[in-house]
Amino acid sequence: MMRCIACRYIVDVDPWLFICPKCRNLLEVVMPNSTDFNWDIAKKRRFGVWRYRELLPLRNDIDPVTLCEGGTPLIKINRVINGDVFVKFEGSNPTGSFKDRGMTVGVTIAKSLSVEGVIVASTGNTAASAAAYAARAGLQCIIALPRGGVARGKLAQALLYNAKIVEVDGVFDDALEEVFIKVMQNGSKKLYPLNSYNPWRLEGQKTLSFEIIDELRDSPDYIFVPVGNAGNISAIWKGFKELYNYGLINKLPKMIGVQAEGAAPLVKTWVSKSKKLIVVEKPMTIASAIRIGKPINWLKALKAVEESKGSIITVSDEEIIKSMRDLAIYEGIGVEPASATSLAGYRKALELGIIDRDELAILVLTGHALKDPDVILKCFL
Ligand code: F0G
Repeated sequence: MMRCIACRYIVDVDPWLFICPKCRNLLEVVMPNSTDFNWDIAKKRRFGVWRYRELLPLRNDIDPVTLCEGGTPLIKINRVINGDVFVKFEGSNPTGSFKDRGMTVGVTIAKSLSVEGVIVASTGNTAASAAAYAARAGLQCIIALPRGGVARGKLAQALLYNAKIVEVDGVFDDALEEVFIKVMQNGSKKLYPLNSYNPWRLEGQKTLSFEIIDELRDSPDYIFVPVGNAGNISAIWKGFKELYNYGLINKLPKMIGVQAEGAAPLVKTWVSKSKKLIVVEKPMTIASAIRIGKPINWLKALKAVEESKGSIITVSDEEIIKSMRDLAIYEGIGVEPASATSLAGYRKALELGIIDRDELAILVLTGHALKDPDVILKCFL
């Protein structure tokens, strides 16, 4: 079944239903109360998203559309920072970002619905990932991008996989609205929407928490996640909560969301305790992946922060670039700017006294350095 994240109204599973019929908020997938999942059996499978199949809401007879995503390295860092810190390097996914975890599940569902193609709005990574998985499934892919707002590596990927690109004047939020309205108004069900208001895609993204537990056995104290449209932080928290409810872990981590100062609607909403999202009309940051002013998953994300007793903080573009550079030169880990917000956020959290150095923290590094070569050349050539 599916449940509204706000009024908790329950509806039957329908892969085309994204909005609560009662209150118009987003829906989430509800997993059964018990599971057949068993670590010993799971560990015989390849390390990655599909190792946790019983923890995903998919029938067993459906063949996944997969590129062997997930199974990303959890790397202890020790030179860049003095603390108990691992990074989860999502840049090593097939298209270079964490989006592949969600797309393998989302496109698998799309294929099972016999649609003609998939459609997404994107700051770039969702587009590259959707395009690759659609190609793998033999489906069309249509992507709406903010004109001039997408890093070149991501645009090049979308072109390579032969997606149909529609450029929208404005920012990501305008592109998303365009796709959302198009899909909602056009009842033909030929194109399956795979933005993160689609709760099935987020089911794939929750596997990041399963992999952390697979390697560490129990939860770390903190997870730091860059926040844009706010699907990922919500998905990762959902994953941990489900493991906890099944008795597969004994404690839960605190979720720390990190936004760029010029694109921080969630931080503004959180700090002011507003019951409504405080929109940022003209989001601005060097981290184009998270240049988002109206995150659709805002309520889910704030619930994740609140329930986990975590926090949500901002970092400046200077701090982002410094963290990106430090990860590269001290650890050999190359990430795009949005991903470096995790390290910048960790540093900020130490400064603010939100965490201690001896508490175990995992920084989610969401995308590869090659996604955005222009920023690197501009800053370091
Ligand atoms: N990091 C990277 C590299 C991203 O591409 C994104 C989102 C995020 C973090 C934030 O994740 O939206 O779940 O809070 N990129 C989207 C896209 C918006 O279209 O590729 P989120």
